[in-house]
Amino acid sequence: MSIAVRPLSHALGAEIQNVDLAQPLSNSEFDQIHRTFLEKGILLFRKQQITREQHIAFSRRFGELDRHDSLPRDRHPDYPELLLVTNIPEKDGTQSASKYTGQLWHSDLSFTLEPSLGSLLRGITIPPVGGDTMFTNMYMAYDTLSDGMKKMIEPLHGIHTGKRKLLDIHAEHEREQNKLNPPIAQPLVRVHPETGRKALYVGEKVSCLAGMTPEESKPIIDYLVRHATRPQFVYRHQWQQDDIILWDNRCTMHVALGDYADGEIRHLERTTVKGTPSGYYLQ
Ligand code: OGA
Ligand code: MN
Repeated sequence: MSIAVRPLSHALGAEIQNVDLAQPLSNSEFDQIHRTFLEKGILLFRKQQITREQHIAFSRRFGELDRHDSLPRDRHPDYPELLLVTNIPEKDGTQSASKYTGQLWHSDLSFTLEPSLGSLLRGITIPPVGGDTMFTNMYMAYDTLSDGMKKMIEPLHGIHTGKRKLLDIHAEHEREQNKLNPPIAQPLVRVHPETGRKALYVGEKVSCLAGMTPEESKPIIDYLVRHATRPQFVYRHQWQQDDIILWDNRCTMHVALGDYADGEIRHLERTTVKGTPSGYYLQ
């Protein structure tokens, strides 16, 4: 059967049907998937019972994989190409470092000088209800700004940090993270290297704009995030076990909603494809 493509929402996303990611894909199948990825921003593959090795092998078709040196606490002990997004407690009973991963709108590795091209997240254990992820289309967010706003933000840079929600729980971890990943300035508008289209590049972890005070920056950042996450730009994913979602970090943002009951297990694993260099250290 040949590959079929089903749109996920008006704004972005497509489900790719009739592929088995446990098998190597032909170049023409991969080309079709890659074209759809560039056009739709996120791809969903359902019912993929694959091994960690197969997850890594498929991810490599999109480019070199990050080994998560910027997030050492969250990587799989035996597979540095896999990042754990899990609420399963550590062996000693302490809370998982990645329990709250992604609970602010963001694009992966924006707080490094090599932000990610794309991420492939595999749903391994999913709560019976909820644990959803939302995605938004940052081309649309950019395109729908006024010409005046586009002109104003074109030269501006947002300051990105790896900070997470609920700082108090992981205060020590946060300090380590800040040392490992000092703040980085990234342009608010980036040109996608493959499509040539402009996309907004901002998020809820952006604390300030370079060269401005926090008071001056906040209304601009808040407006851009609110604008970018309007429901008409968003796709909300309800996970099923064995789903794999690939998203393009250069033209989308995402957020984990944490909308599931305490005591339910939620365990996913992610590969991260390296992107092109972007941004600069502030110091
Ligand atoms: C991620 C992430 C969101 C989620 O893996 O990069 O942000 O819903 N995950 O788990
Ligand atoms: Mn993420």
